Amino acid sequence: MTSTEIRNSFLKYFEERGHKIVPSASVIPYDDPTLLFTNAGMNQFKDVFLGTGKREYNRAADSQKCIRVSGKHNDLEEVGRDTYHHTFFEMLGNWSFGDYYKKEAIEWAWELLTKVWGLDKKRLYATVYESDDEAEELWKKMTDIEPSHVLRFGKKDNFWEMGETGPCGPCSEIHVDLTDDFSGSKLVNAGDPRVMEIWNLVFIQYNRDDQGTLTPLPAKHVDTGMGFERICAVMQGKKSNYDTDVFMPIINRISEIAGQPYKAQ
Ligand code: GLY
Repeated sequence: MTSTEIRNSFLKYFEERGHKIVPSASVIPYDDPTLLFTNAGMNQFKDVFLGTGKREYNRAADSQKCIRVSGKHNDLEEVGRDTYHHTFFEMLGNWSFGDYYKKEAIEWAWELLTKVWGLDKKRLYATVYESDDEAEELWKKMTDIEPSHVLRFGKKDNFWEMGETGPCGPCSEIHVDLTDDFSGSKLVNAGDPRVMEIWNLVFIQYNRDDQGTLTPLPAKHVDTGMGFERICAVMQGKKSNYDTDVFMPIINRISEIAGQPYKAQ
């Protein structure tokens, strides 16, 4: 599939499941002094999660343009050093505003990846927050993931927060093992490009205030984020995001203008 087909297929999948397809918000967050740049698809829905705003729909999906060069999610040091981080990237996401929760988020993520897109189940790992028995059970009951591929991690990896304050909650990430011999189990969350996080399912249920206190939100929500350039690399069988059709036409044109061949390091 081309990158355009992958993006459209994601949006169509969630549209068929009752999601309103919304445009990407501005990368400069509107009316949110806690963020310099939009760092996730959920930013534009912060008021809905907090219970201070409403939309005409309670399920949404989009492809959000994100910049992660400052604050809590800062990938600047990784860019140019590895094959899968970008300062500016697209994040595919689906949201439930007090509607469906963990079960559907997990079932649909698995169905899209393995049935619609045909990813090899043996290559997929799911991580859950250390105390999230429910998410682990759902992975094992609702999907046919290899049970030993459901792993628990602590706050650093499996509790997602948009910034120092704001809506947050435990999360369940899907990682893909790109090793030649399926030996990636120990490389999940190890910062190794051979095992890469592709999708984060966040179960938003708290607000963190400026004193650091977590308060339960009036309702529970789903907030997911899939690295578009990463899923393109996986689906197109490339070892680097830069080798996909998201980047290669630009790189080839630069190479042409510069009169220099493009050589991977
Ligand atoms: N909002 C989920 C993520 O950015 O991973």
